[in-house]
Amino acid sequence: MVSFTKIVTAALLASSSLAIPHGEHHAHLHQSPKRSASSKRGAAYNEASTVAALTGNTPVTWGYSWNMWSNGILPSEVEFVPMLWGSKMFGGWFSAIQTALASGSTYIMGFNEPDAAAQACMAPADAANYYRQYISPYNGNAKLVTPAVTNGGGDAEGLQWMRTFMDGCSDCGLSVLAVHWYGQSADEFKIFVTQAMDFAAEYSLESVWVTEFALNSDIANGASSQESSDFLNEVLPWLDEQPAVARYAYFMCKEGFLLSGGALSQTGSTYTA
Ligand code: BGC
Repeated sequence: MVSFTKIVTAALLASSSLAIPHGEHHAHLHQSPKRSASSKRGAAYNEASTVAALTGNTPVTWGYSWNMWSNGILPSEVEFVPMLWGSKMFGGWFSAIQTALASGSTYIMGFNEPDAAAQACMAPADAANYYRQYISPYNGNAKLVTPAVTNGGGDAEGLQWMRTFMDGCSDCGLSVLAVHWYGQSADEFKIFVTQAMDFAAEYSLESVWVTEFALNSDIANGASSQESSDFLNEVLPWLDEQPAVARYAYFMCKEGFLLSGGALSQTGSTYTA
């Protein structure tokens, strides 16, 4: 579930000078300020039946399942966004995407972490060709989201991968940049999302979606923690203030993460506070 790349990225970030001491956030312990509802907030989920737990206080407005199907019935106020995860889904795609569009989806998400060997794993030029073949035909029926890259900093990773992809896909009809982030601190997160916003502006994309993000500590433990609540209390208002960020989804709507015993975990409560 946690890719090798995520772990390597975590190790690299842990050793970077960007990390700030965790102690700086202790002043916020146990505070969970109520935020206004954000139309940006989404659910990254596997089973649609789990998403109802996120529709209480300030409901999520959209969701995706890393799949071309919704995997069950989402709450009516939650828009389903189909994703063409990677080549393993090419077979069923043309029929599944018609179903998703007929049911009201207005966006299509591209490949999942093509810059990671354990995920969609594609060279940028191949990804551009596949994107043009499978997703671009629906430009006009839906807005098109780029493949979602990691925050890996290597030459063939992250926004560097995306740059090569975009240069090969300038005729693909893309509207939205999708990125993932795993790391150590809110400061690192803001730096990366700011780089993504700058990238989107450079390529005249209308917005950025952060379709997976979390602290490495939570991903490693499969857990919900005070540390992640503190992190979310800092970054969610910031995301909501950024006009260039249109949507985000914390990793993930699942037992042990945003859910605990079928209800909200501590992190889940903060996510929907
Ligand atoms: C995988 C998806 C999976 C999700 C949640 C992602 O990293 O690419 O296939 O559904 O994690 O486990």
